[in-house]
Amino acid sequence: MILYLAPLQGYTEAYFRNAYSKYFDSFDHAIAPFISSGRGDTIKPTRIRDLLHENNHKMPVDPQIIGKYAPEFIPLARHLYDYGYKTLNINMGCPIVSIAQKMRGSGLIAYPEVIEMLLEKLFSEVQNEISIKIRLGFYEKDEIKSLMPLLNKFPLKELIVHPRLGSHMYQGTPDLDAFEWCVKKSKAPVVYSGDIFSVEAMEVLRAHFPKQEKWMIGRGVIYDLFLPWEIKHGPMKKTDKQELFPLFHQALLEEVMNYRSRSRNQLNKMKEYWGYFSRQFENYQEIHFKLTRTETLDEFVELSGKLMKTEPWRNRPIIDRPMSE
Ligand SMILES: Cc1cc2nc3c(=O)[nH]c(=O)nc-3n(C[C@H](O)[C@H](O)[C@H](O)COP(=O)(O)O)c2cc1C
Repeated sequence: MILYLAPLQGYTEAYFRNAYSKYFDSFDHAIAPFISSGRGDTIKPTRIRDLLHENNHKMPVDPQIIGKYAPEFIPLARHLYDYGYKTLNINMGCPIVSIAQKMRGSGLIAYPEVIEMLLEKLFSEVQNEISIKIRLGFYEKDEIKSLMPLLNKFPLKELIVHPRLGSHMYQGTPDLDAFEWCVKKSKAPVVYSGDIFSVEAMEVLRAHFPKQEKWMIGRGVIYDLFLPWEIKHGPMKKTDKQELFPLFHQALLEEVMNYRSRSRNQLNKMKEYWGYFSRQFENYQEIHFKLTRTETLDEFVELSGKLMKTEPWRNRPIIDRPMSE
């Protein structure tokens, strides 16, 4: 089994990938949160900051670009290739309406002619291997059905499928029949993405798709840091989790502090994570509330340290607050 860390803008940037891979060996690979394509041939280091080698210590990662026009992809693709990133992932999944309306992310799927121009140019003008991360469509799942013959004309490295519609955002459940269709019809190897929130959910999916080798986990690892490890290695003792969590937390804090210069931003980022981390604890609402009231990073560090030592843990984290883009 090969496990990919999903791109989650705001959560799975280099600071998380580094801290995570320091304590857990569970992910084989990651796709970085998207960078926007754009005009201009010069690529400033700030634009690819998440991908700079000095910010990426361990977990192998592929960059992702969102956009629609080849001339806006090519300078960035070439720059990333020369810098050492041999594979480029294209985002055809983002459901955010303001993005999709501009024919980007999942809003691009309904336009095979635009995708054809993009892929033709990329395959002829850049050396990067190309993979795509895609939903079923924006409004209709037939969108991917119409697109597949075109995708099959190109030697794509991989097709990562989150089997939902963009217009559904994160509602309902992934459409497993549609995913099965993609596996049957795609010439490129297919990776599954969507709603792997527990070991049991993973088992159900594996029973459904016994030949499927590559799986991607996104929100599941933020809800439950230990999930990918447990999927790969079996149950982890609660006492081991209680020991590991403060170590990981410290590493994450240090990474966030290195990455973000203003202490207000560092504090806000850690608070955001705790919206999910708190769910490992019995008194999760109270814990989250108390942490959101801290006003300085010092106050936050002191309180989170105390809570991690004293608060009782649940057997399973509560997963009741949908995380969305
Ligand atoms: C907050 C958030 C940010 C996301 N950012 C990206 C992104 O930058 N690129 C992308 O392809 N998908 C992005 N996604 C989609 C995820 O990669 C993933 O496909 C989706 O969440 C379903 O998988 P999951 O249920 O394992 O999270 C994002 C999702 C969320 C919730």
